[in-house]
Amino acid sequence: MSWIREGELTIIERFCANIIKAGPMPKHVAFIMDGNRRYAQKCHVERQQGHSQGFDKLAQTLRWCLNLGIREVTVYAFSIENFKRSKEEVDGLMDLARQKFSRLLEEQENLKKHGVCIRVLGDLPLLPLDIQELIAQAVMATRNYNNDVSESLLDKCLYTSNSPDPDLLIRTSGEVRLSDFLLWQTSHSCLVFQSVLWPEYSFWNLCEAILRFQMNYNALQKARDSYMEERKQQQMERDQAYVTKKLQQEGFASHGDSRRRRTLLQKCTAMREERIQGFLQALEHKRADFFERLCTVSA
Ligand code: IPE
Ligand code: IPE
Ligand code: MG
Repeated sequence: MSWIREGELTIIERFCANIIKAGPMPKHVAFIMDGNRRYAQKCHVERQQGHSQGFDKLAQTLRWCLNLGIREVTVYAFSIENFKRSKEEVDGLMDLARQKFSRLLEEQENLKKHGVCIRVLGDLPLLPLDIQELIAQAVMATRNYNNDVSESLLDKCLYTSNSPDPDLLIRTSGEVRLSDFLLWQTSHSCLVFQSVLWPEYSFWNLCEAILRFQMNYNALQKARDSYMEERKQQQMERDQAYVTKKLQQEGFASHGDSRRRRTLLQKCTAMREERIQGFLQALEHKRADFFERLCTVSA
């Protein structure tokens, strides 16, 4: 029996889903699933039961997303701070994660056929390594090529680089903070904070969050577009300044020969692209090595 695909929407849910789908839909939604322990307390059940129902709610939410045509979902399952909880609770959460996510991974292959992508992010101690590597490599790169280091390069260095930024981020339980989750990637996302506790999350809560995204869609889109435009402009200005300097070194007047300028500009862009690819490949190798070592240690 499938963990995600079983169960369809009721008639009324389907009706509302169709209305919502007539508007702009988020392609990528991120969830901070918060409030499991408060839920357990409220319902007078064991804490572990709250976490278990939280995982089951994730399965149900993924199903709603699938029905709504949302193909990409990222969830925050565990933060580095959560290691400070009691050993019993951390072990319980890890057991649940092992059970439920292995089921999810089994289904991933099947879901891929429907163009669905699920990413589970934990705030494991991978970040310090990333940042160390990134800074060390960037320092080497900036020695000669300051222009290479840009916001777009930083984007490409993140684990999330092969996926678009979330359009919508939802946090439940009334907490109004991101707790270090996707800080860079959500700078132009619609942030929705809902008071419902995660195990009680409903299809209607999801619809409400999507409606809020739709109400803010134009402003979000405008902000994103102008940010991308500004980035392009900045890169162009830096390249122009580099070419001007080069032309001056070659003895041309500051505006130089326009054909020579164009050729230099093209060469400068192509060479930068090559250096960046090399840098990203090296970073990828370091990450693969790190993961391999991590698996060997934990095996
Ligand atoms: C979120 O619920 C799940 C995890 C952090 C693993 P909590 O466990 O934080 O529950 P509350 O927020 O204390 O109610
Ligand atoms: C962290 O949850 C985010 C997750 C749901 C995994 P917490 O409930 O521990 O959040 P903070 O640390 O209080 O912000
Ligand atoms: Mg919490």
